[in-house]
Amino acid sequence: MALCEECRAIAALRGIRLARALATHLDGCGNSGGVTVTVRQTHAWWTVAALMIAIGAWALAAQAPAVQPAAPKPEQSTYPAPTNLQVLAKTMTGQQVHELMEEWSRDLGTQCDACHTVDRTRMGADGRPALNYADDQKDMKQVSRMMYTMMDQMNTSYVAKVHGAGVAVSCGMCHRGEVGAEPYAPQKPVVLPESEIRAVSRAAACADDPE
Ligand code: HEC
Ligand code: HEC
Repeated sequence: MALCEECRAIAALRGIRLARALATHLDGCGNSGGVTVTVRQTHAWWTVAALMIAIGAWALAAQAPAVQPAAPKPEQSTYPAPTNLQVLAKTMTGQQVHELMEEWSRDLGTQCDACHTVDRTRMGADGRPALNYADDQKDMKQVSRMMYTMMDQMNTSYVAKVHGAGVAVSCGMCHRGEVGAEPYAPQKPVVLPESEIRAVSRAAACADDPE
């Protein structure tokens, strides 16, 4: 059975899964009094979807022919080639490692020095002591190597095998901007007021009508 345009619009508007609207219809059609509708928290998925659209747009833009062909990329040479990669691909350039590290830092809500030791004998460009990125003394760095290996296996051995999978597991998917990953606390179902229940039930009722 197909949902009509109004059903779809209302289901989308309320953030209710179409399946849920259908179930509501099957259980409660013509019985608008006692229908409880669970509103799904879709924000995280909208964020992911928006992000993917943005990445898609960026990829398209990146494919567009450059106005100035063979423009030099000065930033490529700014970061020295890594010397102590143990879990990341050893072929990664300094630039690539740097971009990934900025992503990890955002995903965990930390600064670089959470995982990298300070080298008090050298000054960085920002006037603060430089970090010794190749050094392995910080426990956080070692744990992060393990985390990366775990995540890489999740993606290559499992997620990649899900039919039509389009989202890879990232540090941020679990950490959500915090160093300590938090347990998931499901939101309580939202019970809609009587008037909205009737509106949703009416929408579900038109599932009978393929027009
Ligand atoms: C959550 C921990 C973590 C944070 C935060 C982090 N790094 Fe790293 N970084 C690592 C790990 C782990 C490695 C080693 C990867 C490997 O062994 O393949 C690494 C390696 C590097 C390397 C390569 C060093 C070498 O010579 O092998 C550089 C450069 C680097 N990080 C820079 C940064 C910068 C810059 C930041 C901040 C923007 C940062 N990192 C933030 C964990 C982190
Ligand atoms: C599948 C979920 C998941 C993914 C993906 C994940 N982590 Fe974790 N991570 C955890 C959990 C769970 C803990 C333990 C949290 C706790 O008990 O405090 C943890 C702990 C850590 C810790 C130790 C924190 C501390 O307080 O000592 C670091 C550092 C860390 N993760 C880094 C990373 C990095 C870097 C990545 C991406 C390369 C990553 N994690 C990906 C779930 C994940």
